[in-house]
Amino acid sequence: MISPLAPFPLNRSRRLRAHGWIRDMVAGAALSVDDLIWPIFVREGEGIIEPIASMPGVNRLSVDQAVKAANEAAALGIPCIALFPYTEAKDKNSECSEAFSPDNLVNRATRAIKAAVPNIGIMLDVALDPYNSDGHDGFVREGIIVNDETLMALEKQALVQAESGADILGPSDMMDGRIGIIRQALEAHDFQDVAIMAYSAKFASAFYGPFRDAVGASGALKGDKKTYQIDARNSDEALRETARDIAEGADMVMVKPGMPYLDICQRVKAELRVPTFAYQVSGEYAMIAAAGANGWIDEEKAMLESLLAFKRAGCDGVLSYFAPRVAALLAE
Ligand code: PBG
Repeated sequence: MISPLAPFPLNRSRRLRAHGWIRDMVAGAALSVDDLIWPIFVREGEGIIEPIASMPGVNRLSVDQAVKAANEAAALGIPCIALFPYTEAKDKNSECSEAFSPDNLVNRATRAIKAAVPNIGIMLDVALDPYNSDGHDGFVREGIIVNDETLMALEKQALVQAESGADILGPSDMMDGRIGIIRQALEAHDFQDVAIMAYSAKFASAFYGPFRDAVGASGALKGDKKTYQIDARNSDEALRETARDIAEGADMVMVKPGMPYLDICQRVKAELRVPTFAYQVSGEYAMIAAAGANGWIDEEKAMLESLLAFKRAGCDGVLSYFAPRVAALLAE
C-alpha cells in the first residue's frame, strides 16, 4: 500500500531528485558485480576467438581462451560463469551421445578452468539441444519430443557434468520431472553439494535466435519448442512450474527470457520467496548491442538500466552477456 501523500505543494517529488547525492541516498535497487553470471561459448581448437555475427562483442572461445576469460572474470569479481558448447555437426546425432561424454567440450573446459581459476563458480546447462541432430532439448521419436526417455539422458549428462567439477547445474530442457531425477541422482552419487538452478519459467521465445546460432543449433532445429517450453501468454503456469521445481529439489530458479518477462520475475520472487535469477538472453543482448552500434541508443546506459530492472523486479542475480563490461564499469 502506498502511504497517503501530502497534497502539492506540501509534497514535491522533485525535492528528492534535486542532487546526485540525495538521489543516491534514497535509491532502491542496486546492481552489483555479485549479481552477475557470465555465459561463455566454447568451441574446439586452440587460440581461437571467433566472433558471433548475431551477437556483436560476443565470441566463441577455444578452451585455452575460455580459461583466460575465466581468469578475467575472476579478476573483475564476477562470481560465476556459465559454459555453452558450440558443437560441430559431425558430433551431433539423434542419440545425443556427445552429451554424456566426460571429454565433451564443456566438461573439458570445466576441468581446465577449475584447475586454473579455482575461485570462480561454473554452471553448465543440462539439455540435449547442442548435441542433438534434431536441435531439440529432448530425444525426438517419430516426430515427438519424448519426455521420460529424455529424463534418463539428462540424468547421465548431469552426472558427467558434476564429475567434471561443475558447481551449478542448470536444467534448461523443460521436460517434466527433470529436477527430481537429477537431484536424486546427485544425492545417490555423492554430489550433494552440487546446486541446481532450474530454468523453471522458460518460455517458448523468439529471443533465443542468436544463441541457437552461437551453439550451432539453428540449422539443426526442426520445428519449434512449443510442446515443452511455456506459452508466452501464461503467467500462472510459470508459477506452477517454478513451485514444482523447488518441490523437486531446485536450489535456485530462473526466468527466461528476462526483460519481456519482468512480470514473471516479480511474481516468482514475491509469491515463492526463493533465490530468483533472470536470463537476459541472446536476443535481448543483440537488440541493445545493435541499437548501440547504430548510435540509436546509448549502449552503456541501456545495458546498465536493463540489468538494474531485474534487481528492481526482485531478482537476486542475472545471467548476461554484458557481465564483463558491466563488471568493469561498476569497478570504476
Ligand atoms: C538450450 C538453451 C537455450 C538457451 C539457453 N539454453 C536455447 C533454447 O532453448 O533454444 C538460450 C540462451 C540465450 O538465448 O541467450 N536448452
